[in-house]
Parts: sequence; C-alpha cells; structure tokens
Amino acid sequence: MTNNTSGGNAGKEIVVPDRFTLEKFAGHPFYQEVNRRLVALTNLHPGQRVVDLGAGTGAVTRLLVEKVSSRPEAEVIAVEPSATALEVARRNLENFGDAVVRFVQGGAEKLSQLVKKPVDAIFFCNAIHLVHEKQDVLQQIKSTLREDGTFSFNTSFYLGAEPPEAEQFYRRWMMRALRVLKTEYGMSPDRTRAEARMRLTADDYRCLLEDNGFRICKQEVMTVEMPLGGFEDISEYSLWIEGVLPGVPLEAGRDSLIEGARQAFRELGLKTSPRNWLLVVASRA
Ligand SMILES: C[S@@+](CC[C@H](N)C(=O)[O-])C[C@H]1O[C@@H](n2cnc3c(N)ncnc32)[C@H](O)[C@@H]1O
Repeated sequence: MTNNTSGGNAGKEIVVPDRFTLEKFAGHPFYQEVNRRLVALTNLHPGQRVVDLGAGTGAVTRLLVEKVSSRPEAEVIAVEPSATALEVARRNLENFGDAVVRFVQGGAEKLSQLVKKPVDAIFFCNAIHLVHEKQDVLQQIKSTLREDGTFSFNTSFYLGAEPPEAEQFYRRWMMRALRVLKTEYGMSPDRTRAEARMRLTADDYRCLLEDNGFRICKQEVMTVEMPLGGFEDISEYSLWIEGVLPGVPLEAGRDSLIEGARQAFRELGLKTSPRNWLLVVASRA
C-alpha cells in the first residue's frame, strides 16, 4: 500500500535527471549485500514505524518493508529530496509488502517537520556524506526518533573507503576519464565549481554521533569486490558525475567515466576492485 506526501519546500530539492538515477547501480548484488547487512545489524521487528532517509529509488525502502510488514501498524516513510528518485521509488514499491509506505519529498535538514510522530528507527543509507550540516541533521534525526529508537547509516564515501590495494585503480580510472573527456569532448572539469565536501574518517563519525547525543551500538567495515559493471553504473549517477567531474555536462561525464573505468580495468588486468563500506548502528544516548 503506498501514498504520497509532498514536503513542499522542506529541504533543498535535488535534481536528478531521469536517465541519471542510482537505479541501475542499486541493483548490484554487492550493493544489496551492504544494505542488507546494515538492516540485519539493526534488529527491526514487524509492526515498527521506520524512516528511510535519502531513500533514492527505494532499494533500502524495499528491505525495510520486508522486515516490518506483516502487522497492520507497520509503516515505512521514504524521505527523499529528489522528485525524480522519489517517483521511481514509488513505482518500485507499488504493491510490495503489507506495510504502508509513505513517500515524502524533502531533505534531512527538515526531517522533524516532515515526520511529526516519533519513529522506531531511521536509516540513512549511502547519503550521509552528501550532507553539509551533519550536526543539524543529527539533531533532526534525534528529535524524530522515539527515546529508545535506532539510527543506522552506511557510507562508502569516508576516509578509508578506498583500500590501499585499490588506490592504483582509482588513480588510473580518473586519469583515463580525464583524458577521454579532453580528447573526445575538449573539456576539463571546472574545479572552481567543486563542492567542498570533506570526507570524514570512521572515528570522525563516531565522535560526531557521540557529541550529538548518540551511543554507537554496532560499527563494522565491510569490504566488497566491485566488478567493472559497478563502476560503469555508478558513472551513470548524476551526483557521482557532478562530484568527480564538476561543471561537466552529464552525458560527457558519464561516457568519459565509463570509458575510463574500462581502460583502467583492462590495463591493470582487473576482474574486480575492492571498496570499503562503513556500517554504523547507534541509539539515543
Ligand atoms: C547514493 S543515493 C542513496 C539512495 C538510497 N538510500 C540507497 O542506499 O540506495 C543518495 C541519496 O541521498 C539523497 N540526498 C542528498 N542530500 C540529501 C539530504 N540533505 N537529505 C536527504 N537526502 C539527501 C539523494 O537525493 C539521493 O537520493
């Protein structure tokens, strides 16, 4: 059962063009595995009310519905600033599971206005690194959680996500992508348009949570072996393209990144390249 709510102006709207969503990447088994693991670490129960913050195209929302469905009071609230992603999520979740799924457009910065009744758990998967004002968002999360509720997040954009044995691949990938961009499109990224987004370490996240009234219950690093297809598909995601090739039109950025990944895999004789995901479950202290 699904229904829609618009959060109006709540939070900054993120524009993700139709052909540049995360949907293809989110279908990879390794991606489902890191999200499933976080859900498993959280101990959800049927009948709970949970928020999927930064729900994107609904890959995690689906896992949450699976866990809490089967009791009539269950509810999953997918909160997402991008109208395009939210629409894909709504389509993907149509007629899935027994829980009520509510779709709310808006950002984490306005969470307590978007979700008024306290919830049992909040998930923020593969998105916390995109938030600038992390302290404000943690306060929003805290005030939206029931007293003994849990906050779970994962990210593969933290300092430590790229294991030392993968550094050569990442360097080669970017070098090759920049070369394709230059030779095929006569373009270079506009570094003046790069968003200053500082990557935190696992310890930084721990301190941030503790300073904002959370207690870490579980923390893990999961290493996944990403095949070429994973790098090709992340290269179709607008937020990734804009992050690594600022100011470059999406089509040119996508094609250069895909071709760069293919060249790097071929030249280094790779079948996969490892990447670390940080998984954290916290509760209100
Ligand atoms: C990489 S996607 C992850 C989607 C989904 N959680 C998953 O794990 O598949 C990141 C999502 O975070 C959303 N996002 C970006 N900034 C946000 C913010 N300030 N508040 C909430 N969501 C945000 C993006 O629009 C995007 O859908």
